[in-house]
Amino acid sequence: MKKFSVVIAGGGSTFTPGIVMMLLDNLDRFPIRKLKLYDNDGERQGILGDALEILLKENAPEIEFLHTTDPEEAFTDTDFCMAHIRVGKYAMREQDEKIPLKYGVVGQETCGPGGIAYGMRSISGMLEIIDYMEKYSPECWMLNYSNPAAIVAEACRVLRPEAKVLNICDMPVGTLRRMSQIVGKTPADLEVRYFGLNHFGWWTSVKDKEGHEYLDEIKSYVAENGYLTQVEVDTQHMDESWQATHKKAKDLLAVNPRYLPNTYLKYYLFPDYEVEHSDSSYSRANEVMDGREKTVFDAARKITERGTAKDSGFHIDSHASFIVDLARAIAFNTHERMLMIVENNGAIANFPDDAMVEVPCIVGSDGPEPLSQGKIPDFERTLMFQQVMVEKMVVEAYVEKSYLKLWQALTLSKTVPSAGVAKALLDDLIEANRGFWPELK
Ligand code: NAD
Ligand code: G6P
Ligand code: MN
Repeated sequence: MKKFSVVIAGGGSTFTPGIVMMLLDNLDRFPIRKLKLYDNDGERQGILGDALEILLKENAPEIEFLHTTDPEEAFTDTDFCMAHIRVGKYAMREQDEKIPLKYGVVGQETCGPGGIAYGMRSISGMLEIIDYMEKYSPECWMLNYSNPAAIVAEACRVLRPEAKVLNICDMPVGTLRRMSQIVGKTPADLEVRYFGLNHFGWWTSVKDKEGHEYLDEIKSYVAENGYLTQVEVDTQHMDESWQATHKKAKDLLAVNPRYLPNTYLKYYLFPDYEVEHSDSSYSRANEVMDGREKTVFDAARKITERGTAKDSGFHIDSHASFIVDLARAIAFNTHERMLMIVENNGAIANFPDDAMVEVPCIVGSDGPEPLSQGKIPDFERTLMFQQVMVEKMVVEAYVEKSYLKLWQALTLSKTVPSAGVAKALLDDLIEANRGFWPELK
């Protein structure tokens, strides 16, 4: 079987060790000859890189491993780039969450003003790594889960339409695991129909391979419990604040009992509730810095100190195995069915062709082929149209360096109560994002 060369961009990510462990666990399905980490923060990445070097020597010495901040070294001779960069790192995530909360507005990594601010930062970083990839390995595919994926995907559509970039999200995969547990199946047993935008969508069908429909059974469960399940199903999405999110799906279903909701809809349908239940002095970024980031980096330092990765404290990120499935789909033309963020072009019949939507696709060596989801009802379509216009206007604002467009984008977000609040927020966000955003006129 062919062996592949993989670069992880954003090598200093809290998710890097879990993904490396997951890749090692899947070598029989997706053989690797070379594994590289690339980050523009060599110090941060080095902590993980040094530890992973020890781990690889002990577990897969045949794989050539390196970590680098040199784009040429990182992107030369690579078949796949798995990208998860966070432009501005956790310090800026904290700002994205806390600045909106000052105005009584949802403070979230990817939704509302925080997501817009993050989007304005991410576009440049993403273009930079796409260009490196195309320069040094034109045949390489990028499997991108850098956020905010909706805005990043729209920016790719507009600014790098020919690039081999596939934008994906793990939330539907994580929620499907919960659904599979609710009905006593495995995720692999289930096939879904789904439509929406990234972090903004609904399941319209969840069937097993024999064609039995579980939608009503899952709805009955969710109406009582949300997506909260008893057994640990996930390596991620387990903190208390995530449990509250899974539970809140109960209220999302109540307001729209037709379909099963993506958990992220809570920020648009219950923004007042979310603000009330947020702590403006200790947001999710703080939880992650004190939790996942600390655990992962402490474990890495310990490995390096001890010189061995035995009992390392690194865990296989099993929820991320969909990244292997996607890489395999491209590499071996498996025609796997997966949710992807793609240009609509009729997949949702009554939605704009040029919208980036999240729908099931068949993925093979030429990339994703979206599956038709038919026409969608007005309630969902209206919400989606408002949101997709926010995403499009953010990218327009970035391209045109337009203050007015970004003000309008913020005003259009369902999370923002007025143009006045939008303007005050924008002025604050501009201050906080100096050096990261293009200068707006
Ligand atoms: P993190 O801050 O721990 O890691 C991100 C790394 O990216 C940092 O080491 C940083 O130095 C690096 N980086 C920033 N700008 C860069 C650039 N221009 N070039 C190269 N490297 C750069 O963040 P994390 O919490 O581990 O998350 C990583 C990313 O993955 C985030 O964007 C997050 O939102 C995303 N994510 C997405 C999904 C999804 O469903 N799509 C799921 C989980 C995480
Ligand atoms: C889910 C979403 C990601 C998001 C992540 C945040 O997995 O799909 O897009 O980045 O949650 O999780 P965190 O634990 O960092 O708050
Ligand atoms: Mn996501």
